[in-house]
Amino acid sequence: MNILGIDTSCDDTAAAIVGNGTQVLSNIVSNQIEIHKKYGGIVPELASRRHMEMIWPVVDEALNASGTKLADLHGIAVCHGPGLIGSLLIGCSFAKAICYSKGIPFLAVNHLEGHIFSVFLEDPKPSFPFIALIVSGGHTCLYRVDGFGAYRELGRTRDDAAGEAYDKVSKLLGLGYPGGPLIEKIAEGGNPKAIEFPRAYLPDSFDFSFSGLKTAVSNFVKHNELGVTGKNASEITHHALLNDIAASFQASVIDVLVRKTEWAIKNEGIKRVVATGGVAANRELRKRMKEMGDERGAEVFIPTPSFCTDNAAMIAAAGYNHLRAGNIAGLDLNPQAYMPL
Ligand code: KG4
Ligand code: ZN
Repeated sequence: MNILGIDTSCDDTAAAIVGNGTQVLSNIVSNQIEIHKKYGGIVPELASRRHMEMIWPVVDEALNASGTKLADLHGIAVCHGPGLIGSLLIGCSFAKAICYSKGIPFLAVNHLEGHIFSVFLEDPKPSFPFIALIVSGGHTCLYRVDGFGAYRELGRTRDDAAGEAYDKVSKLLGLGYPGGPLIEKIAEGGNPKAIEFPRAYLPDSFDFSFSGLKTAVSNFVKHNELGVTGKNASEITHHALLNDIAASFQASVIDVLVRKTEWAIKNEGIKRVVATGGVAANRELRKRMKEMGDERGAEVFIPTPSFCTDNAAMIAAAGYNHLRAGNIAGLDLNPQAYMPL
């Protein structure tokens, strides 16, 4: 069964064709970094306009790259939330129009459910139940996943998402957008123990909080009069203090993510963990998660980085499960900016 997946929830226009929920026949992502980077973050109106320009070329490319025609599709899965409402509308309206005209099932997928299902696009695949850490620009949450449609939230961020903290600290250091890969790069040359930034463990809770860390980095930068704004990442790569700030910030984020995931494993008595979402593309986080898994005797599954960051293959994978469950959405379905899983 071939499913076309579409995701336009944020600033990536993504389309993919996935066979039987697991075989990625094509996976196309058109990012908007060039459009938003001069603003240091995503401008929602510009994002929707770009989605409108790109949706058909990206879908067309996904079809061509997989050797599939619209007539070969068994359904179209689209992310209908959470996300930027103007952006979501483009993907949803486009998917509905094709489903209506071709008479094929319209499948609505929650973006977080998509992130969870990214782990089934590769081998080895986890069996249920597992603990899922979703760590991205919009979300940082822990779920217990007992099967398709059986998700229990254990905790979530009370303020900033981890990726959002990376993006804000990157802006503060004058590195640019998106911050995650830029901070990761300059952190490589730094000492993660150089600066003792706070770690909000929030005992007795699986919730997260990253806004205090962001403020601590901001205060440190002001205190040390690091007027680096305007320089680009390559110019300041050798600036030792910046490397140390990036490495120490990253260590603080990763310590909390890994420790709290470890608590969740222990508390739920489940020795299987999935980490996904854009921040799970981070090499240090991947390494530390695997080390924690080894220590605890837990299996750790982290998708290839291109399946961790936003993509439509994960939406098609989840959509396949909706189709099998007979969960077909009506064409009157509207996207929603806020949507619990
Ligand atoms: O999952 P994603 O592509 O989109 C959302 O659903 O938000 O995640 C994007 C986030 C951004 O905040 C970006 O800075 C972060 O993931 N990110 C990273 C890395 N690559 C992307 N954070 C840390 N290290 C990375 N290598
Ligand atoms: Zn995402």
